Order: sequence, then structure tokens, then C-alpha cells
Amino acid sequence: MSAPHSDVPTATKGLMKAWAFVKTGLPSAVLKLHEGRPLPIFPPEQRKKQHAEEWILVRVSHTGLNPAGVYQIRLIPAWLRSRGSKSEAIPEVDLAGTVLEVWHPGEKKEKKEAAEAKNENEGKGEQTAKGKENDTEEPRFQAGDKIWASIDLPHVLKSGVGALADHVAIPARFAVRRPDRVDPLHAAGLGMATFTAKSAVDAACLLPGNRVLVVAAAGGIGSAAVQLAREAVGPEGFVAGVCKGEKIDAVLSLGADDVVDYTAFESLPDELARRFSDNPFDAVIDCIGLQHVYHRCAKFVRKGGKYAAVNMLAKDWTLASTLWAASKAVVSSIRPASAWLGGSGRKFILVGMKYPSKQEREEIIGKVADGRLEVLVDSVWEYRDALGGYDVLMERRATGKVIVKWDENAGGGQDEMHAESRNGGIEG
Ligand SMILES: NC(=O)c1ccc[n+]([C@@H]2O[C@H](COP(=O)([O-])OP(=O)(O)OC[C@H]3O[C@@H](n4cnc5c(N)ncnc54)[C@H](OP(=O)(O)O)[C@@H]3O)[C@@H](O)[C@H]2O)c1
Repeated sequence: MSAPHSDVPTATKGLMKAWAFVKTGLPSAVLKLHEGRPLPIFPPEQRKKQHAEEWILVRVSHTGLNPAGVYQIRLIPAWLRSRGSKSEAIPEVDLAGTVLEVWHPGEKKEKKEAAEAKNENEGKGEQTAKGKENDTEEPRFQAGDKIWASIDLPHVLKSGVGALADHVAIPARFAVRRPDRVDPLHAAGLGMATFTAKSAVDAACLLPGNRVLVVAAAGGIGSAAVQLAREAVGPEGFVAGVCKGEKIDAVLSLGADDVVDYTAFESLPDELARRFSDNPFDAVIDCIGLQHVYHRCAKFVRKGGKYAAVNMLAKDWTLASTLWAASKAVVSSIRPASAWLGGSGRKFILVGMKYPSKQEREEIIGKVADGRLEVLVDSVWEYRDALGGYDVLMERRATGKVIVKWDENAGGGQDEMHAESRNGGIEG
């Protein structure tokens, strides 16, 4: 294990804080704050496995919340967790912080090399050469590194170890170094929403000069999708957004050319047809899943154009509504686009987030560092008030990302950007 530098934030008396749940239910009913839990076991149990990988123990400064966290708390049955139905689970996937400790299988290598040298002396050199096949690269991280991590959801569901804690032990592959120019508050807003936005923009196959409509343009996914779509269509293209009236300025500031306030009209599809039927869109990126808009999109999306959606919007957060909405999304995606066969006349693409590679993670945080991607922050909540953040998500009123703050000193630097609070969080 590498030793922390003197300026590395240290664990507080070997204890940690975390929001965790055992039974599924509403976050306000089942999510409990634990202050004074023992720190994660580190080095991890994983080191005993043959294909062990690098792990890091992170002191978390900020956690980004996602609707997927609500689904995890509300819907995923406890018996699906590998550690049993009575085990506690920590939700969420996105975080920023500082590396406290690193474990790398290369540490085994040193022991192996020592054994090899001994064996060579004893004339057993050929036998030990095989052991080298399992040698891995050098550690990517060292104590004191400022990082941003987005843990793959299957790892969180399986292990019960999520990002809503002030310490977390995770495989290093989920993390990349955080450039100095990206403060931890905004870094924590990257991750699931950004990569879903990227998948949606990729699915829409946008070309320079294209015209694109982004629905739910001010949400966590939508605010990233507007910017990535702008980048894809270029200055010669056209990006329009759909959101509530009070969010129009935010969406314009992200690079949209036009914004439709869906609350100002009785029928959003009629309004879109009225404004855009003469000059229709090449694609729609629907970041919330409005089925009635998809069904009538032939009036404002050109023939051959695409409708890429992250899901269909569920009526509420119950299992029945969620499954019903998901089934409608799946049916739309497999049903032929033809209106004769129940389609809208335009192709529906159900977008699933693809788990990013290290290069994709570095690219996305690089965009933030050089100013090509802004992380819009809805609100920042002290860790004790994290349930307030979940209320924002469950009411589906977020303007950008909802962030929970543990300890800003754990981020390895002052927040350089200012987070404007729109929903009652602590900043602003
Ligand atoms: N497919 C995937 O892999 C994947 C991954 C992540 C998330 N998701 C899903 O994607 C959805 C959005 O995620 P998110 O992180 O962007 O959520 P979010 O940050 O909570 O944003 C939701 C946005 O939806 C807008 N909205 C709510 N109701 C609307 C309506 N009836 N018409 C138009 N806009 C409406 C809200 O804006 P207004 O205030 O302007 O209404 C809000 O900005 C969630 O349902 C989530 O579960 C899918």
C-alpha cells in the first residue's frame, strides 16, 4: 500500500459516514444516515483473487445524485444483493474526492519476484516464469491524487457499496484523475447523466448542420445533451430545447438556439408542429421520455429522422408504473416505425447508458477542464440534508445536477466555480 503524502486528507479516527438502506422504499422512509461506521476494509478482499485489479480508498468530498439512485432505493429488491437480504446498501454512483490509499496487485509481484530470485538460486527458474503472465501494469494512482469516479451501477448493486458515503473503496478503473481546473463539486455532477446524454447524442447520429430537439433540456441528462448536441451539429446546426419557462435562460446559456416552454401550451406536439413543421428536425433527443410527443413527432421530425429517448416517463416511482413505462419504451423500440403498425412514422431508439472506458472518462472530464462542457448544478446539500436532494429528483424539477457535500476539504482543493442553487440547497 502506498503511504499518503503529508497533505492528503486522512480518515477521521478510522470512522466513516454513509447513507444506507436495508429494505426498499421511499428514500425518506428507508435511507438512514450512519455516522461512525468503521472504514471500508482496505486492502480489499479482492486482492485474494487471481485476476485482482488496482483498488483505491477514496475520501469523498461530493456525491452526485441520480434518479437511478431513487430506483435503487425504491425498487431493487434486497435479495438481489450478493451479500444477502439483510445487508445494508449504499446508493449512488458518482463522486469526487481524494485518494487515501492504493492497493495494486503489483505488490504481489514484488513478493513473487523475491520468490523467483530464491527459486532461481535453487534451480527452479522455468517454473516461476509462468507466474509473470499475471503481472499487471504499474499502479495508476497514488495517495493524494484528486479524482472523479463514476462507479458502474452493476458493481454498486452487487456489492452494496455506492457513492453516497464520505469514504469508499472501489476498483481504480472507475476513477480518473481530476484536472486542477475542475472543482470536486462540479466533477461529482459528471457521470451517469453525462454518459447517458452522450449515448443519446451518439444514437441520434447527428451531423454538422443538423437540426435537433432536446426534450427535458434542463435536467441532469438534458443539460449535458444540449451541449453535446451543439458540439455535434456545430454553429451551422440548430439546437432547440423543451423545458419549463423559468429554465429557458439556463438552456439558452448551454448553447440552445431556441427553447419551447412546454407548460405554456395545451399540447406540446401541436406547438412543436406549429413552429417546426416547415423546417423539421433531423432528430429528437428525449431525456425524460414523453410518449405523446413521440407518437406525434412525424409532424416536426423529417422523414428518416430519429427519436432517441432514455426511457418512457413513468406516472410515479412505483414498481408497476416503472415496469409499465419501461415496457412501452421497449415496445416502441422494437415495433416498426410505420404508423400502420402503431409506430409514429419515425424510428424510436431506446438509449441505454454504455459503461465508459478509461479514455471516455478522461475525455469527458477533459471537456469540463477546457470549458467545452459545463456541469449545470441544481443545488448542493449538506450530507445531513441529502434527503432534500432526493425530493428534488423525485419531484422531477432539477435544473442540472443535485449534489451532496461531505467535506469540501476532502476534494483536495477549493471549489473554483460557483454553484448557483435553484432548489433550496446550501449554495447560493
Ligand atoms: N436509459 C438510461 O440509461 C438512463 C440513465 C440515467 C437516467 N435515465 C432516466 O432519464 C430520466 C432523466 O434523468 P435525469 O438524470 O436527467 O433526471 P433529472 O436531473 O431529475 O431531470 C429531469 C428533468 O425532466 C424534466 N421534466 C420532468 N417532467 C417533464 C415533463 N412532463 N415534460 C418535460 N420535461 C419534464 C424536468 O424539467 P422541467 O422542470 O423543465 O420539467 C427535469 O429537468 C430519468 O427518468 C432517469 O431515470 C435513463
